[in-house]
Amino acid sequence: MVLHGPNLGALGLREPEIYGRKTLQEIDEDLQAWARGRGCEIESFQSNWEGALIDRIHQARGQFDGIVINPGALTHYSIALRDALAAVPLPAVEVHLSNVHARESFRHHSVISPVVKGVIAGLGDLGYRLALEALFEACKGGGE
Ligand code: DQA
Repeated sequence: MVLHGPNLGALGLREPEIYGRKTLQEIDEDLQAWARGRGCEIESFQSNWEGALIDRIHQARGQFDGIVINPGALTHYSIALRDALAAVPLPAVEVHLSNVHARESFRHHSVISPVVKGVIAGLGDLGYRLALEALFEACKGGGE
């Protein structure tokens, strides 16, 4: 499952010099095509609401093999989102389009990173595909 947090629905329009010119729909379509080529199915979901993302994470239990998540600004403060990821026994990869470490200091800290398998930041939408690739390898290898 691919989860996109607050404001990511505005990709393409939103600060394109930071987040790129692709829309979320284009990114999701590219991921779908990539996944199909690998014989995987993915479902993407975006919400500006913390609770909606948390509900999706709980619903993913037993339904998906892993989670790719760009939590947007929730990255930096949502203990509730972190707890949801910790509660569900699925490998997750945190993705950021921008290099959060090269930006404002409030973006340097992630409360999510300690409960995910890995973090990819600064590679634009390629980061999502690399994250899927990592989860795909983990599933294939029977890894956690
Ligand atoms: C982001 C980085 C966050 O700091 C920001 O709040 C976002 C997007 C990224 O993809 O680079 O909304 O997660």
